[in-house]
This record gives sequence, C-alpha cells and structure tokens, in this order.
Amino acid sequence: MKGLMQASRPLTVSASRKGFSGCIRVPGDKSISHRSLMLAALAQGRTRVYGLLEGEDVLRTAEAMRALGATITREGTVWTIDGRGVGELTEPSDVVDMGNSGTAARLLSGILSSHGMNTFMTGDASLRSRPMRRVTDPLSENGASFLTRAGGRLPMAVHGTEKARPITYRLPVASAQVKSAILLAGLNAHGRTVVEEPVATRDHTENMLRHFGITVDVFAMDEGGCRIELTGPVSLTARDVTVPGDPSSSAFPLVAALLVPDSDLLIENVGLNPLRTGLFTSLREMGADLTIENERTEGGEPVGDLRVRSSRLRGVDVPASRAPSMIDEYPVLAVACAFAEGTSRLRGLHELRVKESDRLAATVALLEANGVKVEVKGDDMIVHGRQGALGGGRVQTHMDHRLAMSAIIFGLAADRPVQVDDTAFIETSFPGFVDLMNALGAGLGTGTST
Ligand code: S3P
Repeated sequence: MKGLMQASRPLTVSASRKGFSGCIRVPGDKSISHRSLMLAALAQGRTRVYGLLEGEDVLRTAEAMRALGATITREGTVWTIDGRGVGELTEPSDVVDMGNSGTAARLLSGILSSHGMNTFMTGDASLRSRPMRRVTDPLSENGASFLTRAGGRLPMAVHGTEKARPITYRLPVASAQVKSAILLAGLNAHGRTVVEEPVATRDHTENMLRHFGITVDVFAMDEGGCRIELTGPVSLTARDVTVPGDPSSSAFPLVAALLVPDSDLLIENVGLNPLRTGLFTSLREMGADLTIENERTEGGEPVGDLRVRSSRLRGVDVPASRAPSMIDEYPVLAVACAFAEGTSRLRGLHELRVKESDRLAATVALLEANGVKVEVKGDDMIVHGRQGALGGGRVQTHMDHRLAMSAIIFGLAADRPVQVDDTAFIETSFPGFVDLMNALGAGLGTGTST
C-alpha cells in the first residue's frame, strides 16, 4: 500500500452562503472497523463486515491482517474475512506499516505480543512520534519483548510469545487503546486477564468480543470505574458485523449545521454508544437544537439519526470526567465555543497532547490564528466566545485529520476566509468529506489561497 499523501492538499474556506439541509450519512465507525478486521482475522470461519470505514487508517489494518495470514476480500462495500484463529497468525515477511493510525498500532501490538513470532512495525511521521510505551510496558508483563526507538517510538520490533502469561493492569491513563491491547493479548494467554479502568472508556472491544462468542466480565469498582476480565485461551467464532456511522465523524457536519444559519440537517445511522456521546451532551448544554430520532440497536451497538438545526450557542463548562467519551471531539467543540456567546472551559485535556498531533497546542493555534481569544491553564482550554469578526488565518494541521476538518468548519462559519495548509489526511477517517460538504452546498474548492 502506498504511503499516505506525499502531496499536500491546501484549501481556502469561505463562509457558506447557504444553510445545510437534507439527509446525509457519515462513513463507518473507525474504532469498530479496526476491531472488526482484527477479531475476524483471529476468528475461526468467515466474517462479513457491512459498512466498514474505507479510510486510510482502516485500510492499513486490513493490509496488516492480510500480511499476518488472514484472507480479506472486498466486493462492493462488503468485506469478507477468512480468519486464522487465535494464536494462528503467521509471521509477516515485511515491515507492517500502520500509516497514521495509533489505534491500529496499539491494538495490533496486543495481538502480536501473544503470538510466538517477530513482527516489525512502523508508521508515518505522525505515528512515529507517538508514545508506544503505554502499551509496550504492560504487554511486556506477558513475556513479550519490544525494541523501539528512543522514547518508546516506532519503528518497533515485537518479539511475541506463544506462552503468554495473563496480565493484570490498572490503566494509568484513560485509554481504550491500552485496555484493548491488553484484552487482545489475553485472548491467547493462559489464565485470567484483568484490566481496571478508573474512568470508563469506549467498550467496543468488549462488545465485539462478546459478539464473537466469548465471555467478557465487567464489574463496577467501589472507587468508580470498572474491572474487565476474560479467561484465555479462547476461540472466537466468526460472526457478521454491521458497522454504524462514526459519531466522531458526524461531529463535523453537525457543528457546521449548528453554526451556519438556516440549517436543518438529518445525519442518519450514527453510533450512539454512551461512551462516545459526550459531545452531544456538551452541545446540548450550549443550547444546540439537537435531537435523536429512530433510536435502535444494530450489531450490539445503539444507533440513531441526529436531527440538528442552526442554534445560538452559549459557553459551556465541560468536566474532565467527560473527556473519555468525547476525546476526539475537542477540536471541533472548541470551534463551536469560538462562535458561542460567553466563555467556555474544556477541562482535563492532557491526553490531547499525544494524539495524531499535539491537539491541544494545534487547536489553540487554529483559534488564535482566526481571531479567537483562548488560554490554556494546566490541562484546561478556555475559549472566549465571539468578540468581533473571526477568520482570516492560516491553519497548520500537522498530519491530523480532525484538525483539518475542524478548520474547514471554522471557515464555513467565519467572517473572513480560512486557509488550511493540508486536507489530505482527512482520508484517514472521513473519505469524501469535502465532496459531502459540497453536496450540501459548502462550496469548498481546492488550491492555494490568494
Ligand atoms: C480509540 C481510542 C481513543 C481515540 C482513538 C480511537 C479506539 O484513543 O482517541 O481515536 O478505537 O480505541 P485513546 O485510547 O488513546 O484514548
């Protein structure tokens, strides 16, 4: 697979001349898509995946699972995976390249740690700068070893073990990736794997493991949070998976519709797992006219349609305890706060510093470049709502898809055009984003600014 985007795609974004109306769908959930390919490759039998996100990040995972011996084909939009079974993946003949995807790299590290073989893993410049010790430290406890660059960075060699010991681990950071890596390692370990998370994070791994037929126990802890346990080794049974629309991707058209006058938009088939919906709660607290219709359960996950209309927003105080349920949504929430009346305080954002970019610094820079007054106090971001004309700045996106989309949404609502240095990385999570916004009338064109 060729590397993502050698050529950058700059974009100048002007205010939308009309509101966003109609009915759209966003691509499949990224977290669920990665997990569906990984678990299907570990299952016995044939899995069909419907609605898989065909973004660069997930295509990397597909490529990696193929390199590890699974047979993966695509017909139309249906993906078919013939799995190899837990413990039965085979050593790749070349380096596996996880591109821009931290989720792919970290979850796969867990799987590889309990396979008796050596795998070499790398990623793009963004991923090569991100910390891997958060998974390699706990995973080393099962008998695997990892050789990384300084600072625990990729490229990395994984020396897995076929005699993996089960791990008991209390998460020092709220991270579904770390939790998932340990649970996935536990599938091929002999005994009880235990993960304690002080604050609940997205539970797609647990849900999907159950979907593939194994028991995952979850206990509430007296001091808050929960303990997740499974007993290995297990055998997973192939089961078809339907992937809902990604709530994190829905956030961009949703905030655009809130900010641009005369909008009335329906976003269909969005995943509503309660551990993912902190943004919707926060926007409602800001006065957003946002309702959920047609709520239902599909493939073990709650799903619904989001109805959003232009709204006058006011400032909000988002507690740190909500961060895990909206960790990827802060850049676009900060954009909404910039156009709101009054001051917003977004608390407990330390994890944003280690995303595809330092999202805390990059979001502050995005806002400041466009005339917004913003402060960082400790781990909190304080955004002062609209005071005069906004826009006119140049945004650096640092290989980060969510910054690029947030900058575009800012530009669609701003008084002066916003220049975005590179929109190419949007392909990692939301292929077709610019076309979708243009179909709604956004009028986005490509090219350098004048
Ligand atoms: C993800 C977990 C989150 C999130 C990422 C996807 C997952 O990362 O930011 O986009 O699929 O498990 P952390 O585990 O680092 O919080």
